[in-house]
Amino acid sequence: MGDSAMLPGMPPRRLKKRRVAIIGAGNLAGALATSLHKAGYGIDVIISHGSPTSVQRARRLAREVGAVAVTIDRAEIRAEVVWFCVPDQSIVGMAQSLAQTADWKGKVALHSSGVLTSDELATLRRRGAAVASLHPLMTFVRGSRPPLEEVPFAIEGDQKAVRAGRTIVRDLHGRLFTIRKRHKQAYHAWGMFVSPLLTALLVTSENVAAAAGVGRTAARQRMLPILKQTLANYGKLGAAESFSGPIARGDVDTVRRHLKVLGEIPGAREIYVALARAALRGLPTKNRAALEKILGR
Ligand SMILES: NC(=O)c1ccc[n+]([C@@H]2O[C@H](COP(=O)([O-])OP(=O)(O)OC[C@H]3O[C@@H](n4cnc5c(N)ncnc54)[C@H](OP(=O)(O)O)[C@@H]3O)[C@@H](O)[C@H]2O)c1
Repeated sequence: MGDSAMLPGMPPRRLKKRRVAIIGAGNLAGALATSLHKAGYGIDVIISHGSPTSVQRARRLAREVGAVAVTIDRAEIRAEVVWFCVPDQSIVGMAQSLAQTADWKGKVALHSSGVLTSDELATLRRRGAAVASLHPLMTFVRGSRPPLEEVPFAIEGDQKAVRAGRTIVRDLHGRLFTIRKRHKQAYHAWGMFVSPLLTALLVTSENVAAAAGVGRTAARQRMLPILKQTLANYGKLGAAESFSGPIARGDVDTVRRHLKVLGEIPGAREIYVALARAALRGLPTKNRAALEKILGR
């Protein structure tokens, strides 16, 4: 029976897909392991370090995806793909700890740091593994496991590992693109703007709402419709066409009033000014000269 002869209700073709070992049981590991499992990949093992909470989390995740949980000192890796889902600063150390525990020839080792390159796994490359960095441009937090469909994944590394990454991302219905090693720092700084710093802007917005007599929970609820519409406009029309408000209209006096009140809210004025200057640089504005005079350049 050919690949295309799958009938509805048939189990996923696990045997045809590579088996995966996951190192770590945190936010990314949870989302990846469950998505891979759903896509028909066999997850052999979830490897944790030795602390009791770490072991507990690895066990819980292993149960969800039909894997076993082991600690690093007992890890025996048989899977063809080994995916490091540990904090960036732990990748090298984990790779070194695991270097002697398996025959790495023929294996593919991946990590998902956005900023670090595949060279973090050089120890395993020297032992015969093909290595790559494979980073999903998505946010994973406790209590939310977003689906990976349509998620862009940036990849760079050894040819064989890039090929394996391409197949995995295709099976997850993600969108693979290649990135140069020298671009990874700027790439990750871009990602930082899009989610963590956007969240920082939102918490600052809550602080400004408080000065208007609106509590955090109410502020969050009341902000959502305008936030969603702004994102929808941005997706449909692009940045310039989505830009509204006093800077777009050239309403200098309104901006002056904002600056006055924001001076009373720690940190808010400097963020406002930095973003308003970014608007003057990159978005359509009226009364530019007068706005530059009060905002600086
Ligand atoms: N979260 C995201 O939005 C996101 C997005 C894209 C890429 N990534 C990348 O994914 C990787 C993991 O990030 P994460 O957000 O999933 O982190 P996380 O939620 O903090 O999870 C990290 C996991 O690694 C374990 N760990 C921590 N220190 C370790 C060590 N020294 N040795 C072995 N295991 C250790 C943790 O165990 P304990 O917690 O039990 O100590 C936990 O299971 C990072 O490279 C990150 O850049 C994250």
